[in-house]
Formats: sequence, structure tokens, C-alpha cells
Amino acid sequence: MDFTPDAFTPDAFTPDDAVALYDEMYRWDGANVPSDRFFDLLVHDADSVLDIGCGTGMMLHQARDAGHTGRLVGLDPDLPSLRRARRRTDIEWVEGVAVDSARWQDEFALATMASNAFQCLVTDEDLRASLAAIHGALRPGGRFAFETRNPAARAWEGWIPSAVQTIAGGGWDLRQWHEVESVIDDTVTFTETTARPDGTVLDVGRTTLRFLGETELDTFLTHAGFAVELRQGDWEGGPVTDTSRSIVTVAVKR
Ligand SMILES: C[S@@+](CC[C@H](N)C(=O)[O-])C[C@H]1O[C@@H](n2cnc3c(N)ncnc32)[C@H](O)[C@@H]1O
Repeated sequence: MDFTPDAFTPDAFTPDDAVALYDEMYRWDGANVPSDRFFDLLVHDADSVLDIGCGTGMMLHQARDAGHTGRLVGLDPDLPSLRRARRRTDIEWVEGVAVDSARWQDEFALATMASNAFQCLVTDEDLRASLAAIHGALRPGGRFAFETRNPAARAWEGWIPSAVQTIAGGGWDLRQWHEVESVIDDTVTFTETTARPDGTVLDVGRTTLRFLGETELDTFLTHAGFAVELRQGDWEGGPVTDTSRSIVTVAVKR
């Protein structure tokens, strides 16, 4: 469903509007956004790609637009996101969480979890089972590429209600802010509020993310049968430091 700015009442801001807003805010742009370019290059070089937590499917849409002729599969549990992804029918779209990657065996050259989707794997059990399933879905020598926010950089400390983001233009005029509800060990639960310019709240979403450090992350990867092939703390190849915002990983199926 397309966004209709004049129709906004709290009840009328639908989940479809929320995912359309996500696309507007985080438009996939490999030409200008280094993180998008990082994934685009890997996807370009892989003849079969499983994008886990694909959301609205922007990365795979872009890959097809750029002429990718191989197999592209997007997996996500969020139906409004998948509805938007499915506007393109020359890509396979599957409803499910990362652990559902177990439905494929030795099929993909590349698996991705872009835009910190990896942090949606919160419990040790889900991390272990999801990584095992992703490992199984890859061909021998296949790669798993993802980033996760570096806990040392404490990104959640900037998720405060006074840090209001304005989304204006292209038919949009909205405000969005975040508020942390709890930080328990390495798990952060926060809300994302979307409102009209006058403060009328349209939507409040709640998310829990895990912030794994490098050592613990690598323990999970090793146990799942992956070897870390590339590790960097930014999108230009710099090392992971205490101020790096991200831990970027390409892991290979051993
Ligand atoms: C920040 S969005 C990233 C979407 C997309 N990868 C992108 O780059 O725009 C995170 C996505 O992960 C999905 N997600 C949440 N829990 C998940 C899980 N357990 N397994 C796979 N995906 C999950 C959400 O539905 C959401 O679409």
C-alpha cells in the first residue's frame, strides 16, 4: 500500500506505512553508502545469495536491477516487509527467521544479514541454532557476511528521546526518536516512536538487540563451523577498535 500523508490518524499509520517509511529513511544506495556498497560487491560476485532478515528486500531488488542473473532469496519474519519485497517477483521471498535457513542444504555461495539484522539473534540458543542453519544452507566454501554494532561504542547511549530525527520531503513529514527501556548484560531493549510534527504519536515499535563483542562472536562462529575470513571495524577496511561503530565480518564455511 502506498503512503498517503493526508490520511494520518494514529489508527491509519499502518505496518505497511511503517515499512515504506523504513525504505524512505534507509534507501539502499551502493553508489553513495559504503555499507551498501560492501554488500553489493559481495552479492555481485556470488551466483546464489540468501539474504537473511531481508526486510523490504532493497538489497536484492538493487542486485537484480544491476543485472544479477543468479538465484536471489530473501528471508524475513515480518510480513509487511515481505509484502513490500514481493513487489518484485523475479526473486524468491520466504517468510521465516534465521533458524529457518535449515530448509536449504549446501545451496548458496553467499548468505548475508545486512543493516545489523544479526543483532536480532538475541539468545545463545537462537544464535547457535541460526548459525548452524546458515552454515548448512551454504555450499562448502560459501561465505556469511554481516555486521553487528560494536558494544564498546555503546550506540544505545545516543538512543534518547531528545535526538529527534526529521523525515521530510517526498510526501513525508514525520518525526522519529528512540528510547532505551533496559540494558541487561549485552542486550538492549528500546522503543522507536514515529510522530507527526505536532507530536501526535502514530506508532511505537519495540525491539531487543544483542550487542556481541568480537571474542564472543568468534566463539559462536567457530562452534558453528565458520572461519573468519575478513574482519573490520568500518566499511573502508579499518581495524576494530573501542571506537569502531561496527564489527564487520565475512566468515567462510569450513
Ligand atoms: C534492521 S532490519 C534490516 C533489513 C534489511 N536487511 C536491510 O538492510 O534493509 C532487520 C530485519 O531483521 C528481521 N528479523 C528480526 N528477527 C529476525 C530473525 N530472528 N531472523 C531473521 N530476521 C529477523 C526484521 O524483520 C527486519 O526486517
